[in-house]
Amino acid sequence: MFSVRRAAVNFTQKRAFSASAANPYKVAVLGASGGIGQPLSLLLKLSPKVTELALYDVRGAPGVAADISHVNTHSVVKGYTPAPENLAEAVKDAEIVLIPAGVPRKPGMSRDDLFNTNASIVRDLADATAKANPNAKLLIIANPVNSTVPICAEVYKRRNVYNPKTLFGVTTLDVVRASRFISELKNTNPANEKVTVVGGHSGVTIVPLLSQSNHPEISGEQRDALVHRIQFGGDEVVKAKDGAGSATLSMALAGYRMAESLLRAKAGEEGVIEPTFVDSPLFKDQGVDFFASNVELGPEGVKKIHGVGDINAYEKELIEACLKDLKKNIEKGVEFVKSNP
Ligand code: NAD
Ligand code: LMR
Repeated sequence: MFSVRRAAVNFTQKRAFSASAANPYKVAVLGASGGIGQPLSLLLKLSPKVTELALYDVRGAPGVAADISHVNTHSVVKGYTPAPENLAEAVKDAEIVLIPAGVPRKPGMSRDDLFNTNASIVRDLADATAKANPNAKLLIIANPVNSTVPICAEVYKRRNVYNPKTLFGVTTLDVVRASRFISELKNTNPANEKVTVVGGHSGVTIVPLLSQSNHPEISGEQRDALVHRIQFGGDEVVKAKDGAGSATLSMALAGYRMAESLLRAKAGEEGVIEPTFVDSPLFKDQGVDFFASNVELGPEGVKKIHGVGDINAYEKELIEACLKDLKKNIEKGVEFVKSNP
């Protein structure tokens, strides 16, 4: 029943019908056994666009793959045990590689406190992907995103395969939260609430542009409280989980949304726009090489980076505070790869 291969364990039997020839996309999840990895992999199993799902982790990926492979959608699921050749096979030919591998926060920690552990995890997984499949779209979930994305860029540059169009820091959770929080405040349907969030993915680097939302009238203390809640939404979850980690389920949904949007754009859909932290021209003149804003996605990845648009004086101040921190976070990631090649 199970076909055991040299590097992978294939838990899905061959079906009588052929997998969707129109969108034959392989997606790899590195860190697939974790709090985010498992529900993210489950959601990807439900996607009709995904025909092969490669699950890699330093522990437990074959078990997660076996479990998910019983879901009755057409994709093939393979679990990979930790070994360089297995990692290479997991990412090979993938259209998208998602990296949620790394430790999460505990109460009292900042995302930057994760740097010492997660920087080398992300560096090594990015390096393996740069070697085995440099053209994959690389989606970085592991924190601190403001630093792990520049780490990946440096790793790819070192291997002479850097393409800024295919590297994405996943900041989707910030807009997912923002639309939910604003709908709670206004008693509206969150599906109809779109809040642009720009900057980075931690504390004051998260900048919601409420003036561009459906509710530009929100002001004063109510505005300050809402902005603070969007900036520090992650802390709410970390506190509530009380040492058991950070957001996993809402993050899985957000990561899935980003991956699915990229697959839709790859399949030729026009006008697919997601917020994401990318190599961006918007604030390079101020020494900030990466910035999250709305990005139109295309078959090659980044198609068009949107500017921040019209913002008010309050939002200008938020962006100034953001840029100060973001610059340091980015420099820290770049410096890490230079001193730890
Ligand atoms: P977790 O500890 O539950 O899972 C992490 C998984 O990574 C584990 O299964 C672990 O075995 C695996 N792992 C560790 N080192 C690895 C390696 N070298 N190769 C492959 N797998 C490896 O953590 P989690 O809750 O899933 O969070 C993962 C990361 O995502 C954290 O850094 C967290 O801060 C971040 N996160 C980001 C966002 C975002 O919006 N971008 C949201 C939530 C969490
Ligand atoms: C989040 O925003 O929920 C994540 O970045 C995890 C965290 O540490 O808060």
